[in-house]
Amino acid sequence: MQATKTILITGGAGFIGSHVVRLFVSKYPNYQIVNLDKLTYAGNLANLKDVEGKPNYEFVKADIVDGEAIQKLFLEKQFDGVIHLAAESHVDRSISNPTEFVFTNLIGTVNLLNAARATWKNQAADKLFYHISTDEVYGSLGNEGLFTEQTAYDPHSPYSASKASSDHFVRAYHDTFGLPTLVSNCSNNYGSFQFPEKLIPLFINNIRNNRPLPVYGKGENIRDWLWVEDHARAIDVIFHQGKVGETYNIGGHNEWTNIDLIKLMCTIMDRKLGRGNGTSEQLITYVKDRAGHDLRYAIDSTKLQKELGWVPSLQFEEGLEKTIDWYLENEAWLKNVTSGDYQNYYEEQYQKR
Ligand code: NAD
Ligand code: DAU
Repeated sequence: MQATKTILITGGAGFIGSHVVRLFVSKYPNYQIVNLDKLTYAGNLANLKDVEGKPNYEFVKADIVDGEAIQKLFLEKQFDGVIHLAAESHVDRSISNPTEFVFTNLIGTVNLLNAARATWKNQAADKLFYHISTDEVYGSLGNEGLFTEQTAYDPHSPYSASKASSDHFVRAYHDTFGLPTLVSNCSNNYGSFQFPEKLIPLFINNIRNNRPLPVYGKGENIRDWLWVEDHARAIDVIFHQGKVGETYNIGGHNEWTNIDLIKLMCTIMDRKLGRGNGTSEQLITYVKDRAGHDLRYAIDSTKLQKELGWVPSLQFEEGLEKTIDWYLENEAWLKNVTSGDYQNYYEEQYQKR
């Protein structure tokens, strides 16, 4: 089949990126999907086993920090659209090594913007550069209110500062050079294929292995959780129907304090593992708080829902059950990603707390 569009998806071997690649490859057989990924510790081609070999899918191993390689690839492939997810994504790692976040999240994004601008020149009108970002750029809420698209940026971690800078550059390339851009800012995702350094997969793995559950501070911080496949659907809707130059917030109206979420996970895991009720909760261990820990995130996604008709498809309790089942059924995947360097990372993170 002749491809009608060639779409670059960066970071497609990561958690969210792999769901976006899977959705686009299956839903749009007339698109050629090029997945560009450096395959860092968080990138894993095993996340895309079911997509490998499909005629409209191609993988390119490259580093977005390498501006020359990126320019060359854009000239060769003449992309019609870019969906940019590649990033260093873990807040704790950004506290240990902020510079890496500047390189990938900021310089890497600017390299992609430059390559798009140079390739598209004055026929940019029917092209699109879509940048995937986070609600963490808005900073922290108190007990009231929601983040809207008008909320002022106030990032606190090196991760969110690097994402905020990249968002500003994307908008600056739209305003200054007329590059057709879109930005979306999403809340916390959960689901299959998430690297077990983030709260939900880390705690599923630890409960399974009877390891302590390190709760930062008092566990009172609030996050707004969205099923990753609903995020991928939102990205599809925004990419195809979003208004160029605009920003869309994505979230599930699903706020949980960390400790309530952790207790719910313990209860579900006790049932699934055939342990007595209350067994897993005994693994809860309060540890030193994360530096600069944002208290509360909560997204107002009214604009996306009203203008583009997207709504989340799954209730959280159902999504969490599905997610826990997936990790329990995919022990080989978990074992593979937690071998090698993971043990060093884990010991370094949690010994110092
Ligand atoms: P992830 O860490 O699971 O995946 C990131 C991917 O980017 C990996 O495959 C990695 O190999 C690749 N990558 C990293 N550095 C690269 C480089 N220099 N060149 C090329 N590829 C590189 O991240 P994720 O959780 O899937 O997040 C994806 C995007 O969505 C990020 O931009 C993140 O900021 C954003 N986001 C994430 C969440 C969330 O809850 N996870 C929420 C909102 C927004
Ligand atoms: O809000 C969107 C963001 O969500 C994304 O932009 C980030 O890429 C993604 O990593 C996520 O950031 P968080 O810092 O919110 O996610 P994390 O899973 O690391 O932590 C969730 C909450 O749980 C947070 O309040 C810190 C706490 N936590 C986390 C870990 C890893 C613990 O209490 N113990 C832990 O061991």
